[in-house]
Amino acid sequence: MDWGMKNRLSQLIQPDGHCFFLPIDHGYFQGPTSCLEKPQETIEPIIGYCDALFVTRGVLRSVIPADLNKPIILRVSGGTSMVGKDLANEDVTTSIEEIIRLNASAVGVSVFVGSEYEHQTLMNLSKLVNSCENYGIPVMAVTAVGKELEKRDARYLALSCRIAAELGARVVKTYWCENFEKVVCGCPVPVVMAGGPKCETEKEVFEFVYDGMQKGAIGINLGRNVWQSEHPQAVAAGLQAIIHKGADVKKASEIFQELKNSRKGSTKRKK
Ligand code: 5RP
Repeated sequence: MDWGMKNRLSQLIQPDGHCFFLPIDHGYFQGPTSCLEKPQETIEPIIGYCDALFVTRGVLRSVIPADLNKPIILRVSGGTSMVGKDLANEDVTTSIEEIIRLNASAVGVSVFVGSEYEHQTLMNLSKLVNSCENYGIPVMAVTAVGKELEKRDARYLALSCRIAAELGARVVKTYWCENFEKVVCGCPVPVVMAGGPKCETEKEVFEFVYDGMQKGAIGINLGRNVWQSEHPQAVAAGLQAIIHKGADVKKASEIFQELKNSRKGSTKRKK
């Protein structure tokens, strides 16, 4: 691995081998998602707990301060919307020149395995790897399911993750599922977990993240379950403890409760 690639990956994956990415890219197909209407306000209380920000170029340019001391993973696929025909019909939206100009530490692209656009999205990944590897920029593949959330089982996710790794992704982002070890074991590159729609309780979030880490994930790329919580800071602190401090679910829940009840952590997100 060349120095640039190593350097970028080391900004994202911390010396303990783990990572906590904060995605705020949802607007690229969901519009002003709940609690992400003003992304700069959303991230302000929680960015300190995270290792990197996952964001589109539009939000990056318009609201993220350029002196933000966090690496950027640039979302570079899109071209669809919640109200359009098919969320899987994505292309690569961002040129390699733009990726370099924005000083991205990595890029993220979705693949929709098993969809009508399987070939197109897998070729998006492959072509992006071809461009980005020339400049030492890691590509994170996102195994997306669109609106078909029921697809998220170990057999399907293992298939998607393995294909993404075979095509050159340096990191794969996927969903946690039952028997998650099957997903991780079949994937030769590091796996990070997305959260999906918000869980009922924070404890559920800590439980699946803890389970996934025990089964070999290197970290998380968790959005809605952090910033749609009533107490985003307290959730972020609990998650950071699981990812980087070896906390179990009980410890993470204690951290959550403590911060929630303290003056600082009790600051609820604005509705
Ligand atoms: C949205 C994404 C998100 O980055 C990913 O789904 C993680 O966010 P969440 O935890 O809210 O699911 O790719 O397009």
